[in-house]
Amino acid sequence: MTEEAAAEGTLSVTDSRTGRSYQLPIIDGAIRTLDLRQIKVDADDFGLMGYDPAFQNTASCRSDITYIDGDKGILRYRGYPIEELAGRRNFLEVSHLLLTGELPSPEEQRDWVAEITNHTFIHESIKKFIDGFHHDAHPMGMLVSAVGALSTFYPEAKQVQDPEVRHRQIVRLIAKMPTIAAFAYRHAMGLYYAYPDDELSYTGNFLNMMWRATELKYRPDPILERALDVLLILHADHEQNCSTSTMRLVGSSQADPYSSMSAACAALYGPLHGGANEQVLRMLRTVGTVGNIPDYIQRVKQGEFRLMGFGHRVYKNFDPRAQLIKKVAEQVFEVTGRSPLLDIALEIERIALEDDYFVSHKLYPNVDFYSGIIYLAMGIPVEMFPVLFAIGRTPGWLAHWEEGLLDPEQKIGRPRQLYVGPAQRHLES
Ligand code: CMC
Repeated sequence: MTEEAAAEGTLSVTDSRTGRSYQLPIIDGAIRTLDLRQIKVDADDFGLMGYDPAFQNTASCRSDITYIDGDKGILRYRGYPIEELAGRRNFLEVSHLLLTGELPSPEEQRDWVAEITNHTFIHESIKKFIDGFHHDAHPMGMLVSAVGALSTFYPEAKQVQDPEVRHRQIVRLIAKMPTIAAFAYRHAMGLYYAYPDDELSYTGNFLNMMWRATELKYRPDPILERALDVLLILHADHEQNCSTSTMRLVGSSQADPYSSMSAACAALYGPLHGGANEQVLRMLRTVGTVGNIPDYIQRVKQGEFRLMGFGHRVYKNFDPRAQLIKKVAEQVFEVTGRSPLLDIALEIERIALEDDYFVSHKLYPNVDFYSGIIYLAMGIPVEMFPVLFAIGRTPGWLAHWEEGLLDPEQKIGRPRQLYVGPAQRHLES
């Protein structure tokens, strides 16, 4: 079927500069911006472009991984509502779903878990690499570097067109992320590295590598283990966000997945993205007491700073992940005791949801508003929050990386610009 035949309609455009009209096919609710290029003032004209800083209204790909309806607060992975997945599946099952399109059968799940478990160790030289960081290095900085450094250990990863090679690197990355994360934490704390325990679950093993002290066998608290698993599921994918788009863009140059994912981690590090949960905690500590909240909110409204953990580019009604996380928080606090910061967070949420500024700007708590408080209650230091986000987002990044590579319509990503600098000028003699 030709594109014209598949089109659900056409967009009629008349260029007032020339008086000429054009019919642009509309497919899947979009026009191809390349179709604009035929709109020219004269034969020498480059043709019309779309200008869209921050890609607010530009689809960069077709994807069948994650569906979001921001107005209705819907998030689905491969068609399954996030509420069902978070309630009834575990993180590795969800990773399998994101990567292959289907939830694993019991046999597939057994094999998948075995494969991941088999790759949790990292090369001792990566350990030495982590050792080289200063004691107060931010764990996200260590993660960005260590993930990038993995590419030097697996040179075969360059063969991005080979499905078996791709699969091996995907397994390695999902398996090694918690190990690198926990080792980065241990390094910062000056603690010995606790090696992976193959008998534990994915999240149970992460808690083991974080917290094991002198005991021969670490036994994770089942409620905290499950809570962490749910948090990872909620972070596992979020379609074309900043870090995933980075992963796709770097991957489009056919860089190996470690280099691409190192870039994705770097994008996630920013305070407007994965760094936000860290900033939420800092904000709650700055506010200090419930009594200081009105003044703090006033300063946000005056534009002095943003209310961290509020607002989202896509969700303009509610963030379904935030609602699920709130429930997880209650379960975690039953084990750990209630954090006084939660009272501040709840009061900020209550005031903001009634305040005209936040209502009119469609600003609601996002996933990061509560995740930080939960991590803190679990004893995880603030600097580690974006690292946990990165562990959760890993299967999503990899699913998008592979989808981009296999998409026959994709090429190396290369946006256009509107040049607004000086016209040609010459050096003075
Ligand atoms: N506090 C106060 N005002 C805000 C906030 C906020 N958190 N977020 C947006 N606004 C205002 C902003 O000042 C602007 O107002 P006006 O139109 O009067 O100038 C308006 O709302 C629209 O803001 P925007 O920056 O154009 O919106 P955006 O879609 O580009 O930004 C965002 C989305 C998430 C970056 C932004 O809401 C933000 O900075 N939030 C705080 C950081 C945060 O919590 N990030 C985590 C996002 S969820 C996790 C993830 O996916 O990474």
